[in-house]
Amino acid sequence: MPSGFLARAAALRREIERHNYAYYVLDAPTIPDAEYDRLFRELQALEAEHPELATPDSPTRRVGGKPLGGFASVRHAVPMLSIRTETDTEASGAQAFDARVRKELGLADSDPPVDYAAELKFDGLAINLRYEQGVLVQAATRGDGETGEDVTQNVRTIHAIPLHLKTGSPPAVLEVRGEVFMRRDDFERYNAKQREAGKPTLVNPRNGAAGSIRQLDPKLAAQRPLSFFAYGLGEVQGWKQAPLTHSATLDALEKMEIPVCGERVTGQGAAALIAFHDDIAARRDQLPFDIDGVVYKVNRFDLQRELGFVTREPRWAVAHKYPAQEQMTTVLGIEVQVGRTGALTPVARLAPVFVGGVTVTNATLHNQDEIDRKDVRVGDTVIVRRAGDVIPEVVAVMLDRRPTSEPSRFNILQRYPVCPECGSHVVRLEGEAAARCTGGLYCPAQRKQALLHFAGRRAMDIEGLGDKLVDQLVDLGLVHTPADVYGLSQETLASLERMAEKSAANLRAAIEASKATTLARFIFALGIRNVGEATARDLALYFGSLDKLLAATETDLLAVRDVGPIVAQSIVQFFAEPHNIEVVKRLRDAGVRWLESTGVQQSAGILAGKTLVLTGTLPTLTRDAAKEMIEAAGGKVAGSVSKKTDYVVAGEEAGSKLAKAQELGVTILDEAGLLALLEPDDGNAQHRFDF
Ligand code: IVH
Repeated sequence: MPSGFLARAAALRREIERHNYAYYVLDAPTIPDAEYDRLFRELQALEAEHPELATPDSPTRRVGGKPLGGFASVRHAVPMLSIRTETDTEASGAQAFDARVRKELGLADSDPPVDYAAELKFDGLAINLRYEQGVLVQAATRGDGETGEDVTQNVRTIHAIPLHLKTGSPPAVLEVRGEVFMRRDDFERYNAKQREAGKPTLVNPRNGAAGSIRQLDPKLAAQRPLSFFAYGLGEVQGWKQAPLTHSATLDALEKMEIPVCGERVTGQGAAALIAFHDDIAARRDQLPFDIDGVVYKVNRFDLQRELGFVTREPRWAVAHKYPAQEQMTTVLGIEVQVGRTGALTPVARLAPVFVGGVTVTNATLHNQDEIDRKDVRVGDTVIVRRAGDVIPEVVAVMLDRRPTSEPSRFNILQRYPVCPECGSHVVRLEGEAAARCTGGLYCPAQRKQALLHFAGRRAMDIEGLGDKLVDQLVDLGLVHTPADVYGLSQETLASLERMAEKSAANLRAAIEASKATTLARFIFALGIRNVGEATARDLALYFGSLDKLLAATETDLLAVRDVGPIVAQSIVQFFAEPHNIEVVKRLRDAGVRWLESTGVQQSAGILAGKTLVLTGTLPTLTRDAAKEMIEAAGGKVAGSVSKKTDYVVAGEEAGSKLAKAQELGVTILDEAGLLALLEPDDGNAQHRFDF
């Protein structure tokens, strides 16, 4: 064999594994994916051409070989034990363990505290990795503790697991024990990809890890994103200067580039264990993977040997569990909740179940697609998950437990054709996941949100009408729709909590002042789904009058700049709801008015294609008002002056922008000049006040 190939293959392997370790263990990629792929393909080609070059620890072995007929049995050289679980979830669990250890070791109260190692209890699948002369030769599951299954092919596909140990003098035999698991982000990503491809998803990361390892087709296993953390040893032969403690062992494994979790401590006595327990409990939900507790171990191996075992459990270790985050229960019913935006969220009513530390009776089903995907029906037995403060959710249905009298599928639109809060129609817009109530301003569930939006600075701009007041006005039944705001007297306002006479007067004045507005603001204030400020402005400019907008069909709306089918549909649906038309009418009756124009269906805006810059303080118009007027006329407002600027509108204390305009010879206008520009007398845009 030409030695050049041999050396090249060895160099490629070393380099690929180095990048692999950086990417999968250190989470710090060293080269672009494409470059990694190139190296990998070169090695693959080399090994294909010279099969004698292939080694059992070549990274090319990670892609998974032929499907297996079954797994061979592996007898463990050293049994894989289980671990006693401390049922007491409070601090006393650690105290009880420490007390037992001290008693077994014959320690008196006056003796010093015991050294412990504390680490996480990973929620995956236990695996024994056997390295001979530093090369991974076998990976086996725990099985019954005596005999497991040979899953070497699948484990090789886990990139975080080294195919050989990084050390100059590997032990003759080193069995590393640890947990194969799936990170939550990998789990979510994998499921999203599966969902997109219409393929089955994983129920939870734990099942994902266990199922992948026991997958007979290693190519499929290779597609599952798995991780690994070591937590102990099996058989060991010929390890020179083998560590004498558990924590030093994990440090040594880490040096050999075996992944070891950083969340581990050593400490003395029960107090150290309790501190670790509480620290991790507080951060459990921020960890990138699921755990079901923490594990305490006597750190010194000589003391571990002295303590020994009871049946299959060591006396020197204990698992201290946290409340489970997933439980089984049954679905008693499915209802919907109408949210502040009108979205109908389906909620499963559950037989009460203790999960994630609290009793849960409701769980979100998110939306119709999620119900369909999980196929949740009334009467089903389901797995509920509650992690941290996140809303409990139904993660999966136990199909084998479905009642024989098959309950029917749940369909939101069929079950709730109208909103349970206000009776308006419920629709599901194309491309949207949520079914929504079209009640908008009228729906009590959406009232507070609608009012706040209506009064907002960029909408009707009613200064002083903030969330505290809106809460009171709605809760006291004083305001049902935004139109009611205009009927509020100063006395009523003054009677509200935290409202002095003066602020009531100010608010009353702000309400009155808000009546004179622009069509764009008014449209925006209505809070039509998918109609933001820019769209509202485009609509106002295009139609010029509210009545034209009200009469517009979807086709008419599609002619407006930037209005697509979804926006058009939202608008038509909003105005098709009689409640909304009623609110609009009442607002106009209350005196809300704006300047109308003929619109630009026939002609472009006066300032179409023109760029203006505003600088300094104008005598009457605020900056926002001037900008709005310019934009309503089709012009653009830019932030800085350039050769492309058509006009600079300058007020008091105009600074460098004015100077720049003079330098470039750009036309300079004052406020009157701007207004003259906007109100030409050629009749192109006939403005009138609509009272
Ligand atoms: S030590 C002799 N440490 O828990 C003690 N086990 O019942 C052997 N596990 O299925 C286990 N995290 O896979 C140990 N940090 C940890 C662990 C851990 C998870 C699992 C292990 C086994 C079970 C033990």
